[in-house]
Amino acid sequence: MAKRTIVALPGDGIGAIVLEQAVRVLTAAGFDAEYVYGDIGWEFWRKEGDPLPERTLKLLEKHKTALFGAITSKPNEEAKAELDPSLQGKGYVYSSPIVGLRQYFNLDICVRPCKSYKGNPLNFIRRGRGNTIEEPQIDVVIFRQNTECLYSGVEWTNPPENVYQALLSHPKFRENFGKVPVSELSVSTRIFTRKATNRILQAAFEYAKKYGYKTVTVCEKPNVVRETSGLMWKLAKEIQKNSFPDIKLLNTNIDAQMMWLTKNPEDYGVLVAGNMFGDIASDGFAGLIGGLGFACSAQFSSDGIAVFEPTHGSAPKYADFRVSIVNPIAMIESACMMLDYLGEKKIYNSIRKAVADVILEGRVRTYDMMKMSGKPEVIDNGAASTVQMTDAIIAKLR
Ligand code: NAI
Ligand code: MG
Repeated sequence: MAKRTIVALPGDGIGAIVLEQAVRVLTAAGFDAEYVYGDIGWEFWRKEGDPLPERTLKLLEKHKTALFGAITSKPNEEAKAELDPSLQGKGYVYSSPIVGLRQYFNLDICVRPCKSYKGNPLNFIRRGRGNTIEEPQIDVVIFRQNTECLYSGVEWTNPPENVYQALLSHPKFRENFGKVPVSELSVSTRIFTRKATNRILQAAFEYAKKYGYKTVTVCEKPNVVRETSGLMWKLAKEIQKNSFPDIKLLNTNIDAQMMWLTKNPEDYGVLVAGNMFGDIASDGFAGLIGGLGFACSAQFSSDGIAVFEPTHGSAPKYADFRVSIVNPIAMIESACMMLDYLGEKKIYNSIRKAVADVILEGRVRTYDMMKMSGKPEVIDNGAASTVQMTDAIIAKLR
């Protein structure tokens, strides 16, 4: 019997393609696991009116650890139109299965490492002194609070009377918006709880300590968004003082951080932020290390559920190419995050080294690494296919 059971959630489009490649690499590297496949995504919305069936939730509840490809989401009207005719008009409403997973298991901690590989032609470069070109080595790990903030969905257009009255009770609201007709008001709330804020900060500091990062940077805006960003900054100072005195705590504002992104990205280590600013910062840093073909992530709950997935979506445009051209590295890196989490250090190291070798050698590159636009012809023009890139990585394993 295999040592572990991993829930494989292929999802839609290229999600299924890259997941298959990650499993190939894991197997070739000697990871002893059985994969149980879970249903998720558009197909199940269309056939069953539910892109995240109960049986899939049960599977993850049982086995705890999942590798996830990506799913397709579409606007409500399109979603309704694509439902199986037998389900139409029965009140089914589409909602994203990723958000569903996050909410059901309270996957409140999102981790997105952005580490540059030597030799990646997509690495960020900048002008140094004189006319020199510098390529900073980036090693930033973003901790993004995953369930609260502006993305919690607590929002209104034309808010109901009790909400409006509550808003009116705030002097700043009265002063600045008191004369705006209520029907012309749209309000989205930014909610932080002490518990979740503490959890993301604690996770960030623990990670910094475990992996030897010297700094934790809180990337918010506490000078302006005083209550929510202010809470995170205040709690960060307490945690640092009480539990992690050897780690330096830094504070950047999200806007300034986006400017410094290209100026001195190598100066940051662990970065922690609320949901929205974490989303922004992690996409920003991912851009410096090669973009969606390289951006991996993990999501964790407080009770042992962990989901590992690339940041990219299902890229439907590329899903039906006869030979798949997308870069499997983001998914393979996500699988590596899983290995690290499971304590499979040896296999983790061997896969990461193999990926690094292939990139450094530069003989096998997917279309994105060759700055081509994504068309089937890229293969004839020298780009590696998804499978060829995976083969190259497997060939380097030792
Ligand atoms: P996307 O990430 O699927 O693709 C955007 C573009 O990025 C692609 O057209 C391609 O040029 C490039 N790209 C993505 N993955 C790549 C890879 N592995 N290698 C090389 N290039 C890659 O985002 P898009 O087009 O905005 O969304 C497509 C669908 O995916 C939508 O239905 C969206 O809702 C869904 N989505 C799902 C996510 C998830 O499952 N976590 C995340 C983002 C979008
Ligand atoms: Mg994003």
